[in-house]
Amino acid sequence: MFEGATLECRHLSKSFPSAPESTTVIQDLSLRVQPGEFAVILGPSGCGKTTLLRTFSGLLRPDRGEVLVDGRVVHDVPDDVGVVFQEYNKSLFPWLSLERNVRFALRGLDRATAAQRARDALARVGLADSAHQYPWQVSGGMQQRTAIARALAHQARLVIMDEPFASVDAITRIHLEVMLLDIWTESRFSVVFVTHDIEEAVFLADRLFVLSGRPASLKEEITVTLPRPRDLLTTKALPLFQQLRERAFRLIEGGEQAS
Ligand SMILES: Nc1ncnc2c1ncn2[C@@H]1O[C@H](COP(=O)(O)OP(=O)(O)OP(=O)(O)O)[C@@H](O)[C@H]1O
Ligand SMILES: [Mg+2]
Repeated sequence: MFEGATLECRHLSKSFPSAPESTTVIQDLSLRVQPGEFAVILGPSGCGKTTLLRTFSGLLRPDRGEVLVDGRVVHDVPDDVGVVFQEYNKSLFPWLSLERNVRFALRGLDRATAAQRARDALARVGLADSAHQYPWQVSGGMQQRTAIARALAHQARLVIMDEPFASVDAITRIHLEVMLLDIWTESRFSVVFVTHDIEEAVFLADRLFVLSGRPASLKEEITVTLPRPRDLLTTKALPLFQQLRERAFRLIEGGEQAS
C-alpha cells in the first residue's frame, strides 16, 4: 500500500564561506515530517530555505548533521522524492512539450507506460489539453502545474516544494493551493512545502515549522488543527485561522523567541 515517506533532519548546519554577511546559513536545525503529513516550513526571505531544501533532497551536503528519508541517510536525490523548484521558468526544458517534460522524470519506464503516466499526471493538474504545448507557450501557473505533474508522475512518496507559487498572480495562486490540497488528499504522499507567505503556510499545513532569520534555526513548531477539506472562504474566516496567522506573524515579524 502507498504510504508517504518520513523526512527527518538532525542537527543540520550549513555554511557558505563565500556568502555575504553571515556565512552560516543553517544552524543546528532538527525537524521531523510524519508519513502523509503536509509540512510547511515558513521563514523570512533570504533566511536559508532553499539551502535547507537542497540538503533535504540530497543536492547539497550539510556541514554537520544528517537528513534521513524513511530512516536512511540521504546522499543523493532519492528515487521516490519529487522536487518542485522555486524558479519554474528554469526547471522545465523549453524545447520539450509539457508531456515530454513530465516524461523526462520517467526515463526508466517503457515508452507507452511513461506516456500514459505523464498524461495521467497532467490531467490531475488540469493540463490534459495542453500536453503538446511548449513551456514558453503557456502561463507561469501552467508551467508550475507541469512541474508538479512531473513530481506526481513518478509516484513520489515525498514531494519537496520550494515556494512553488511565489511568482504567479494572487488568483492563480489560490487555485493552485486548493488544487495541490486536492491532489495530496487523494494520494497522501508527504509534503515539505517552503514559503515566506504566512497565510499560505497556515492554509496548507498540518504542521508548521517557523524558522528564524539567517542563520535559519527552528523557532517554533505549530500543529495546525484546522479542519479539512479546507477552502478559501470558510477556512480563512475561522477564528483559529486568524489566531494561527497572528501567532506566525509575531514569530516571523516580531523576532519573538520560541516559547
Ligand atoms: N551556493 C551558494 N554559495 C554561496 N552562498 C550561497 C549559496 N546558496 C545560497 N547562498 C547564500 O545563503 C543565503 C540563504 O540563501 P537561500 O537561497 O537558501 O535563502 P532563501 O530563504 O531560500 O531565500 P529566498 O527567500 O530569497 O528564496 C543567502 O545569503 C545566499 O546568498
Ligand atoms: Mg529560496
